[in-house]
Amino acid sequence: MANSKADLSAVQRQLMQVKHPELKKDIVSLGMVAKVDNGEEGIDILIKTPNNDRRLQIGLEAQARQLISKIEGIGKVKIKFEVDQSMKMEDGNKIFGVKKVIAVGSGKGGVGKSTVTANLAAALLKTGKKVGILDADIYGPSLGKMFGVNGRVALKSEEDKIYPLEKHGLKLISFAFLVADDQPVVWRGPMLGKAVEQFLYDVVWGELDYLLIDLPPGTGDVQLSLAQLIDLDGAIIVTTPQEVAVLDAGRAAAMFKQVKVPILGIVENMSGFACPSCGHVTDLFSKGGGGKLAAQLSVPQLGQVPLTVEVMKSGESGIPAVLGDGNKALIESYSNIVKNLESQLALWED
Ligand SMILES: Nc1ncnc2c1ncn2[C@@H]1O[C@H](COP(=O)(O)OP(=O)(O)OP(=O)(O)O)[C@@H](O)[C@H]1O
Ligand SMILES: [Mg+2]
Repeated sequence: MANSKADLSAVQRQLMQVKHPELKKDIVSLGMVAKVDNGEEGIDILIKTPNNDRRLQIGLEAQARQLISKIEGIGKVKIKFEVDQSMKMEDGNKIFGVKKVIAVGSGKGGVGKSTVTANLAAALLKTGKKVGILDADIYGPSLGKMFGVNGRVALKSEEDKIYPLEKHGLKLISFAFLVADDQPVVWRGPMLGKAVEQFLYDVVWGELDYLLIDLPPGTGDVQLSLAQLIDLDGAIIVTTPQEVAVLDAGRAAAMFKQVKVPILGIVENMSGFACPSCGHVTDLFSKGGGGKLAAQLSVPQLGQVPLTVEVMKSGESGIPAVLGDGNKALIESYSNIVKNLESQLALWED
């Protein structure tokens, strides 16, 4: 067996039973397992720890070796440790392995919150970041449709863990992936809290630079409890230029303030129409709503996204429009948002 390639998924499964002594979670869910690979002499495993605590490392290595040795015919195993100081494992509500968790909220429905989430995720991915999306919109989940995936079929659930789907290099999870089409989705108070908690902490995201959370529209109890359950690094508010949407967006901002989540900025969506042939942007609705709200809240406007035919079509193709090369104005608007978002996040860094 020494020369044949070992079954890496079997190794991964064993690593899922290696428990962090204090956090009572396994090292895979905690995002500590950075690599499991077939190396030259056997299996190479890389485990990340937040500091150089040799006692922790030796304990984890002993557990891992003992569990892996149970795999029949397993050859040599090399376990290396690497210190990653960006891991903040002491924070109770953190989603482990995920560097930044950002909620996207809107107040008013239908302003393009889900579309902005998907395209922003794709734009971040284009800059080389590892990105996941959690569709927490329990009443109107749309992630599956937007990415053309039928979650339930591909969803693997092993050892009570939920694996996100992967499409176009993005990791995706939606409440809709867990329920059958013919089942009504009735999430009530306590059940909702439990479902979300499981969602947050049992999903094996691996390492992510960004996890974007598409919250349900509105500012009611559900939204509030979701925003509290998740330890968010910040929120982005999506609005359209019109007065009504801006008013609702203001309410969403107040909600995030109430739970002390920093507002990273405003995205004004459907901000003019970008002509498919010449790229020229024409204003359709009243102008400047996003900018006004940003000024009122003393937060930046991260960017303005034009209405485009490509975005409308992408709802059917299952590919976020920024991943195509069809509309320069659209692609530019998102790279601008990424730039502004990252400088905003840098300001909040401790
Ligand atoms: N910039 C855009 N250009 C063209 N169409 C857009 C744009 N943004 C959003 N849309 C379209 O508007 C519709 C609503 O968008 P989306 O579903 O993202 O909104 P939402 O705020 O998430 O809605 P809900 O409140 O139902 O969750 C979709 O059909 C989407 O394709
Ligand atoms: Mg939506």
